[in-house]
Amino acid sequence: MGKFFVNGGVALYGSVRVSGSKNASLPVIFASLAMRGVSEITGLSDIGDTRVALEIIKGFGAKVEKRGELTLIDTRELEYIIPDEQLVSRLRASTYLLSATLSRFGRAELQSFGGCNFSKRPIDMHLYALSEFGALLGERTLTLSVNRPAIIEFDKCSVGATVNALIMAATRKGESTIKRVAKEPHIMTLVEYLRSAGAEIRLEGDSFTVKGRELSGGRVTIPGDMIEAGTFLTLSLVTRGSIKVYGVNPSELSAFMKPLSDSGVEFTVTPSYICASREPRAPIDIVTAPYPEFPTDLQPIAAPLLATYCGGSIEDRVWESRFGYLAEMAKHGVGFRQRGNRAEIFPSQIVPAESEATDLRGGMANLMLALFANGESVISSAELVLRGYERLTEKLTALGAEIEYCM
Ligand code: UD1
Repeated sequence: MGKFFVNGGVALYGSVRVSGSKNASLPVIFASLAMRGVSEITGLSDIGDTRVALEIIKGFGAKVEKRGELTLIDTRELEYIIPDEQLVSRLRASTYLLSATLSRFGRAELQSFGGCNFSKRPIDMHLYALSEFGALLGERTLTLSVNRPAIIEFDKCSVGATVNALIMAATRKGESTIKRVAKEPHIMTLVEYLRSAGAEIRLEGDSFTVKGRELSGGRVTIPGDMIEAGTFLTLSLVTRGSIKVYGVNPSELSAFMKPLSDSGVEFTVTPSYICASREPRAPIDIVTAPYPEFPTDLQPIAAPLLATYCGGSIEDRVWESRFGYLAEMAKHGVGFRQRGNRAEIFPSQIVPAESEATDLRGGMANLMLALFANGESVISSAELVLRGYERLTEKLTALGAEIEYCM
C-alpha cells in the first residue's frame, strides 16, 4: 500500500502540462483488440490504469512498443485467453473487453470488473446492447456467432455502454444506430480512432449511425486530460497559489468553470493555458450530469474548494452515492451533511491528518486538503490516486509542494 507524505501549507505556483486523458486512453487501448493491424496512439499517459489495460491486452498476444510519445499496438496475431481476473478487477474500463473480444473472437468473459468502488455499477445496459448484436448470455460467458448490425436505444446516458456499443457497431457488417449516447470528449476520441481504422460514424443529435467493417489498425492522438486540468486549477485556488494549466481544450471545462465563476473566481483562458485567479466569495453549488454538464469526476475534486472557502453543495446526478470520500475529508476537519446524492459542505478549519484514499478522485481530494493544511499529513492507499495522475509527485514538487510517495 502506497502513502503520500505531505508537508502542507505551501501556496503552489508555476505551470503544469496535463497528460493524455485517462478516460480517452482506456477505450482506445481496449478497442485496439477489435482491430487487426498496427495502431499508432500518440500521447497515451503512463498511469496505473493504462499500464494495467496494456497488460491485459498483452495477455491476448498484443505487442506493445513505446517510441517516445507514440505507442504502437500490434494486434495482427492474437489468440483468445481468459483474461487474468486480478488485472480485470482493477479497472472499470475492463468492461470494454466485452465488445472488443466478442467482435474479435466471438467470446467474452463476465468477470469482476473493478474500478472505483463509490456506488453500485451495473452492466445491464452493456449486456442489452451486446445482445442486440446477437451475443448470447451464458453463466460466465458471452458468445457471438452472427455478424449483424443492430438498433440500440439506451434509456439513459452511459459512457461505458456507449463505448461497448460503438466498438460492436464499428466491427459489424452493415449499418447500426445507437440512440441516447454519451457524448463525453473521450467518446469522441474513440470515434476518431474507430473511424481511422475504417468505420464510418456519424453523430446526429443524441444518436450515432455506424457503418462497420473489419477494422485495420487505427491512429489517434489522446487529448489532454480535462479532469487533471480541473484538478490543478482547483488546487491553485485551494492552496492560494497560481498555476497555469497547459494542454487542455478549455471548452471541455466550461461546465466546471461556470459555478466557480458564479461565486467570483476569475478564469484567464488563452489559446495555450488556463489560469484561475480571485477567490470564491460565495457558496458554490454544483450539480453533476453527463457531458456537457459538470463532470461527476470533478465533484470530489471541487469539495476541498468548498471546504476551504464559503462552503456550498454538491448534487451528483450520475452516481447515487459518490460521497464515501467525505468521511475521510472529515479527518482533515471538513464539516458536511450528506443525504442520498446530495451533500452540503461547510466552510471548515482544515488540519493536517492521517487519512485514506477511498478512490481515485476522492483520494485526490484528501491530498488537496493535505497540501493546504499547515503541517504533516499522510494519505494511505495513495496508489489509487496514481491510477489516474501521471508523474503526480513530480508535477506537484515542481509547483513547490513538499510531497513524497512511498510504497
Ligand atoms: C461514469 C461517468 C464518466 C466518469 C466515470 C468514472 C457519465 C455519464 N459517466 O462513466 O464521465 O468518468 O463514471 O467516474 O458522467 N448505468 C446503468 N447500467 C449500466 C451502465 C450504467 O444503470 O449498464 C448507470 C450507472 O449506474 C450510472 C449511469 O448509468 O448511474 C452512468 O454510468 P456510466 O456512464 O456507464 O459509468 P462510467 O462509464 O463508469
